[in-house]
Amino acid sequence: MSGDARKAAAGLSYLTGFGNEHASEAVPGALPEGRNSPQRAPLGLYAEQLSGSAFTEPRAHNRRSWLYRIRPSAAHPAFTRTGDGAIRTAPFTETVPDPNRLRWNPLPEPPAGTDFLAGLWTLGGNGDATQRTGMAVHLYHANTSMERVFSDADGELLIVPERGGLLLHTEFGRLSVEPAHVALIPRGVRFRVELLDESARGYVCENYGAPFRLPDLGPIGANGLANARDFQAPVAAYEDVTGPVEVVNKFCGNLWTATYDHSPLNVVAWHGNHVPYVYDLRRFNVIGTISYDHPDPSIFTVLTSPSDTPGLAGVDFVVFAPRWLVGEDTFRPPYFHRNVMSEYMGLVEGAYDAKAEGFVPGGGSLHNMMSAHGPDRETFDRASAAELKPQKIDDGLAFMFETRWPVALTPHAAGADHLQQRYDDVWRGLERHFRG
Ligand SMILES: [Fe+2]
Repeated sequence: MSGDARKAAAGLSYLTGFGNEHASEAVPGALPEGRNSPQRAPLGLYAEQLSGSAFTEPRAHNRRSWLYRIRPSAAHPAFTRTGDGAIRTAPFTETVPDPNRLRWNPLPEPPAGTDFLAGLWTLGGNGDATQRTGMAVHLYHANTSMERVFSDADGELLIVPERGGLLLHTEFGRLSVEPAHVALIPRGVRFRVELLDESARGYVCENYGAPFRLPDLGPIGANGLANARDFQAPVAAYEDVTGPVEVVNKFCGNLWTATYDHSPLNVVAWHGNHVPYVYDLRRFNVIGTISYDHPDPSIFTVLTSPSDTPGLAGVDFVVFAPRWLVGEDTFRPPYFHRNVMSEYMGLVEGAYDAKAEGFVPGGGSLHNMMSAHGPDRETFDRASAAELKPQKIDDGLAFMFETRWPVALTPHAAGADHLQQRYDDVWRGLERHFRG
């Protein structure tokens, strides 16, 4: 079953660039030619626009898709409030932002029957979802496929699986996502998560701000970091299903539910650039020093959500992928630093080169604005004494959600049993070596 499901999503199309048009049809002739909203759409479909940006935003930032569907999205009954589970939304005001370095073990095992939505657990975030600024850090741990369909009006969802494959059934088609991949569900796009393994665990960045896009490359040139051609959109696939389907909508921080008499995943053809996609992090073209020192970790940016201040991201998604270290006379692990940005780090597999232990796959650390961090004592000692031969770092895949504002925690993250109580001890024993 799971092999079939993985195969079902194999028909991906390349996203050849952000901002470009893409098109797909599940039935030949379903996509109208030459106009978006003809008097009668082909095959008796309804034409509908989904806007991810204001109509009037500059062409380079404009996001919208045209969907050709069996029933229009408007054909639904009223939504009513339902429980939010462990999902919380900005503004995060239930705790004061914490200047301490914090680190968590993985989420505990959820009760049987927990689907992706029920398994979402908000760590914290910043900004204000109603103002479309800031972000939230969520983790998930699920053991059951979703029967219901979910959409998030508050932001786009960058899903970072750490354990277990996911088959995302979206309005635009299916995406198969494995650990070491990331998937993005744009704001407002309906989807359902099928588990391809017994359980699934991972991270989600909910981005309330400007949609993620590839960073500019400046003097790096026309190639490098994440290459546009490696981002894949689904091919159109639809569900022609009648009967009750629960649809959950996250809106201004609350979950709302309605029971449709059909599946909303009923898009037969589409074109546009407001589309879900998947990206294999192992395709990231890592760039680093070939002389001395090493670049700031921004060189590892996969996707960025720009703010209205040039160069200042609402949130960056950064990956620490396998790479060679060759810097001469260089302390090679990530250096000690304090940062005006706030850093949530997670680990998809293996180990991270700045920490000897305690930072485990499925866990995470938070270093808020200006908190001092860097390698632990053991890593510092080893790196300071190491013979500097070329060295391959290939035993781990860590990532960072780096955001412009401090991350305030939810009460359940601040009081979690899996919050490590002695993280500061990592930096104990960094003795004085000064010989003044
Ligand atoms: Fe850092």
